[in-house]
Amino acid sequence: MIDYTEKIPNNVDLGRDRVLQRALEHWQPAFLGWWSDMGPNESSKYEVYLRTATSVEPDGWAQFGYVRMPEYRWGIFLQPRDETRQVNFGRHKGQSAWQDVPGEYRSILRRVIVTQGDTEPASVEQQKALGLSCPSLYDLRNIFQVNVEEGRHLWAMVYLLHRYFGRDGREEAESLLARRSGDTDNPRILGAFNEPTPDWLAFYMFTFFTDRDGKFQLCALAESGFDPLSRTCRFMLTEEAHHMFVGETGVSRIIQRTCDVMKENNIDDPSDVRAMGVIDLQTIQRYLNFHYSVTLDLYGSDVSSNAANYYTSGLKGRFRETKLADDHILSEADYPVWEVVGDKIVAKHVPSLTALNERLRDDYIGEIEDGVARWQKVIDTAGIPFRLTLPHKGFHREIGNFAGHHISPTGEVLTEEAWKHHESEWLPSSTDYKYVQSLMSGRVTELGKFANWIAPPIRGINNHPLNFEYVRFN
Ligand SMILES: [Fe+2]
Ligand SMILES: [Fe+2]
Repeated sequence: MIDYTEKIPNNVDLGRDRVLQRALEHWQPAFLGWWSDMGPNESSKYEVYLRTATSVEPDGWAQFGYVRMPEYRWGIFLQPRDETRQVNFGRHKGQSAWQDVPGEYRSILRRVIVTQGDTEPASVEQQKALGLSCPSLYDLRNIFQVNVEEGRHLWAMVYLLHRYFGRDGREEAESLLARRSGDTDNPRILGAFNEPTPDWLAFYMFTFFTDRDGKFQLCALAESGFDPLSRTCRFMLTEEAHHMFVGETGVSRIIQRTCDVMKENNIDDPSDVRAMGVIDLQTIQRYLNFHYSVTLDLYGSDVSSNAANYYTSGLKGRFRETKLADDHILSEADYPVWEVVGDKIVAKHVPSLTALNERLRDDYIGEIEDGVARWQKVIDTAGIPFRLTLPHKGFHREIGNFAGHHISPTGEVLTEEAWKHHESEWLPSSTDYKYVQSLMSGRVTELGKFANWIAPPIRGINNHPLNFEYVRFN
């Protein structure tokens, strides 16, 4: 007999729910098998200074200590229930929030949960090899923290599938462990989660750009009329904040180090910068262009009847839905989307309900702009005349109105030939990847040491100094 509260910290009364116990007894060994195959390489014996959520109370949510990752206590937590909560938008607006799955929405709700759930193990798979080239113990610990929390997010979605979707849910939960990022036969569901994350610059870009898509999707699902989904997502968001912190500060520290080296040596030509063993700002810009554009695709088509349907049904809201001052029905409103007409990009007003993907994408872009401005500040403070820019929304897109068009970073509609001519200025080339990876051929494990291509962070984890032993290798 498993002691559930000890092994699986939870606030869903798992100890008394026999049906759920049986489902998890079956699934948990499969999850551990997946972790051992697809979790971080060679890491099973390491003791990692991790935080574990043991309750949703402020004192239980971040308990720090050394843990071997296969023994991490992946828990199931929902934000406490608010008995007065209602469905806040769509045609059921004003009803009490649903504590069970409405029969008519069963299959779309399951699809929404599976699509979110699939991203969680995918990113662990994408980041699997990076521990072997970490720039410091601090960074190694951070990537492992992100990985175990993505594992917990998978648990969170599997909990919903097991608890509310019966046999179909159990089958979906198994499929979540069967798909593989980048696999040709059985890939992960969404495009960006099948792209490789080949180096640490890509990892930080991913956690800045793509984990932030995760945040916005979770925020939209946190508005759901299906209360258990809402409460699950609210708790997941507390962890997502750390992932984006790792990404933003990671890129910022790389920029800082590059700027320091450029100033010390009075150089600005990218090849001179590379000769000093740091990453030139031009390459950082190309990585930014890539990760931003593949992440924009995750929001889906600009005009989408599915998105309208999710909203009208009360299943997926807008970003900060309850803070918005309108009717929360949207039957009259319109919203601008962009289209390519000839060689021009023009705005077209469509019913707001059908433009909800585009709207969530725009909310996301607003937050991205603020983050990029903070990176720019590092460059400006160093007195280096280089501008990091976000490419045009239509740049390098494969989904929605821009798919099939060639849009430059400044928003010109190009011929395929013109695009090809410039592609290696705008997106990382194989030479760029090779160079960045050449800097990361081994791992830095000395206490308090950092690789040459990245500046140390401002402070350590949980008030520990930078030379703390964040990972013990044994
Ligand atoms: Fe996640
Ligand atoms: Fe995340």
